[in-house]
Amino acid sequence: LVAFFQPKVLSGKRVLVTAGPTSEPIDPVRVITNRSSGKMGYAVAQAAREAGAHVVLVSGPTALPTPYGVARINVDSARQMHAAVMAEARGADVFISVAAVADWHVVNASDNKLKKNAAGSAPQLTFAPNPDILADVARMTAGPWCVGFAAETENLLEYAEAKRRRKGVPMLVGNLAQQAMNADLTELVMLDDAGHRQLPELSKIDAARQLIRAIAPRLPD
Ligand code: CTP
Ligand code: CA
Repeated sequence: LVAFFQPKVLSGKRVLVTAGPTSEPIDPVRVITNRSSGKMGYAVAQAAREAGAHVVLVSGPTALPTPYGVARINVDSARQMHAAVMAEARGADVFISVAAVADWHVVNASDNKLKKNAAGSAPQLTFAPNPDILADVARMTAGPWCVGFAAETENLLEYAEAKRRRKGVPMLVGNLAQQAMNADLTELVMLDDAGHRQLPELSKIDAARQLIRAIAPRLPD
């Protein structure tokens, strides 16, 4: 019922959200991933939908149900997430990048399961950088209004503002990684050109609703 009575501040807008971790194969049974439950991104997708938006959620592997009324595209790797997002971004008014995207993938991933060998040696993995999805969307001409997320372990405000500028996005949301990980409560700080605004500790859905209310008046008509 609370959901139903949210102000429809994104009525008619198309919102694209990424959530969850990405998963980078080492071999068919082993992956490298980031710590992310997906809860914050799913809450953002739900809050956008409650606010009247048409919402597409590009999600890495999570154990979460799809929020009501949200169109979900499942991906595994960062490169798959990049492809799915670039295909959807053209038509979006807002892009909210909540996913914990792996920064690298394994170049020498094996097609077959790696076996332990008698000598007890371990595989040597070689990494290459993944595409920066948010930075690529932020660079699009006439692309969506972009919001980034950053979980930092220290110097939150300073690192988050530096990241906002580096990625070229109008808004970046910061939180402390130690607090956010798999928790149901979160303490977000929103940074934009005008400075920063600290939210109190809230449930992820309430924090997401506050974020949507802060984004809505900033959008071009
Ligand atoms: N992001 C992305 N694609 C990537 C990496 C990050 O879209 N390959 C997005 C995240 O979804 C988030 C923002 O960029 O919205 C910041 O992610 P973060 O990992 O904090 O930034 P990085 O630039 O990867 O810096 P760091 O070295 O701190 O990991
Ligand atoms: Ca990163």
